Amino acid sequence: MKLYLSLLAILFSFSLQAQEIDLPGDFLSKDFHKDRREKLRASLPVNSVVVFFANPVRNRARDVDYIYHQDPDFYYLTGYKEPDALLLIFKDKQIAANGTAYNEILFVQPRNAMREMWTGRRLGEQGTKDVLGFEQAFNNTEFKRYNVDFTKFDKVLFFDFFNDVRNDPRDSSDLYDMIVQFKTKVRYPEKSGTSLAVEPAKNNLDMKGLNDLMANLRGIKTKDEIELVRKAVSISCMGQVEVMKAIKPGMSEREIQGIHEFVYKKYQAEDLGYPSIVGAGHNGCILHYIDNYKPSVSSKELILMDLGAEFHGYTADITRTIPVNGKFSPEQKAIYELVLQAQEAAMKITKPGTPLRLNTDTCRAIINRGLVQLGIIKPGEKHLYFPHGVSHHIGLDVHDRGGSIMEEGNTITIEPGIYIPDNAACDKKWWGIAVRIEDDYLITKDGYEHLSKSAPRTVKEIEDMMKQPSAFDDFVLPDLDKMNTKKQN
Ligand code: GLY
Ligand code: MN
Ligand code: MN
Repeated sequence: MKLYLSLLAILFSFSLQAQEIDLPGDFLSKDFHKDRREKLRASLPVNSVVVFFANPVRNRARDVDYIYHQDPDFYYLTGYKEPDALLLIFKDKQIAANGTAYNEILFVQPRNAMREMWTGRRLGEQGTKDVLGFEQAFNNTEFKRYNVDFTKFDKVLFFDFFNDVRNDPRDSSDLYDMIVQFKTKVRYPEKSGTSLAVEPAKNNLDMKGLNDLMANLRGIKTKDEIELVRKAVSISCMGQVEVMKAIKPGMSEREIQGIHEFVYKKYQAEDLGYPSIVGAGHNGCILHYIDNYKPSVSSKELILMDLGAEFHGYTADITRTIPVNGKFSPEQKAIYELVLQAQEAAMKITKPGTPLRLNTDTCRAIINRGLVQLGIIKPGEKHLYFPHGVSHHIGLDVHDRGGSIMEEGNTITIEPGIYIPDNAACDKKWWGIAVRIEDDYLITKDGYEHLSKSAPRTVKEIEDMMKQPSAFDDFVLPDLDKMNTKKQN
């Protein structure tokens, strides 16, 4: 049996290698990732090394894991999408025992025919060299033997651990093991209450400095990254447009979510940048409402839809709020126009040099003044109708790394909102009105480009779009209860 399995494994590995890898050709290139590593190296302090770990695999239940998603910093610097990997980037050239000079090294999960038959292709050390262009790539089984004296560096930079990585007992060189080995190599001081492994010989461990270095780098998008953000944004706008045409009273929140996400898949978006938020009426007041369980949205309600397609790692973040029946009521319109006015005011000051925080302050001043004029609050009254900031970077993360002052090449959001829950301390005609308008922008030399402008945004644009026929009008599925899968009495 063992011999049979081994033969099967060998045959399978040949067949995998022989197959053409049918992948889209528009991923970021190996030159992009190499250039990012060079830029990071240039920003490192003298005599330093930086260490990145791949994201852990997370268990969903029993033998099912969550779909794997690489750590965005790791992906940005390597292009490697598999787990159980570790990257070292050195400021200066190192000399290996065999005399080879190198300044970066990537440890990856090894090829394994049986495991690949269950969970998919692995690059392995050779594939990592060929496809990702690393000169120094090794199987992660080698990390234990990797003999570098970390005490010789002035700084060893890495992000601190959360101690939440599972140990796979079948694998003695997985992420868990590499973290243990790394901690031993650098003499990582375990926190009090846990075993103090070894006193650090030298206080050269820096678990803070990488935040700024990575923010400076990732905040400014390259041309290739901007193209991917543009694509993610266009796909997400298309989802909003299709829902505006398709929505009808009586649909469920989840069905509406499904139309957005169907459009994403139609355009080959691999993932969502974050769980989709689709909340009708009062549900829209829950800022990160992802239950989306209301079975039937009512014709009197607004529905707030905050979703972002993730395309080749890059995500959009767009919110549209629309009336389920296609026409804003006077109260809905008043709140909507106030949020829009706030967003337009922030757009006017959006350019290099403006602190992101100023967008929030600008929107807050307009919204507070407007809420007083509508009689919803008294002048100076503290309230919870607009409890969040309005601008953040987007990219590989929906809340991406980046600086606090706008710079050319940033991709950011502007997203003011007003949320009036049922039973709020104001006239009940306002209850259950929740509006957020969120758009995505590229900061240019002297202003911005409005990336998400193809999603209707003004009251008129939305009402006009909602009058259009939809391809989904004819998409009618049978009633489940009438199907013969139901138990007959
Ligand atoms: N969708 C999360 C946010 O708007 O920040
Ligand atoms: Mn956002
Ligand atoms: Mn959002």
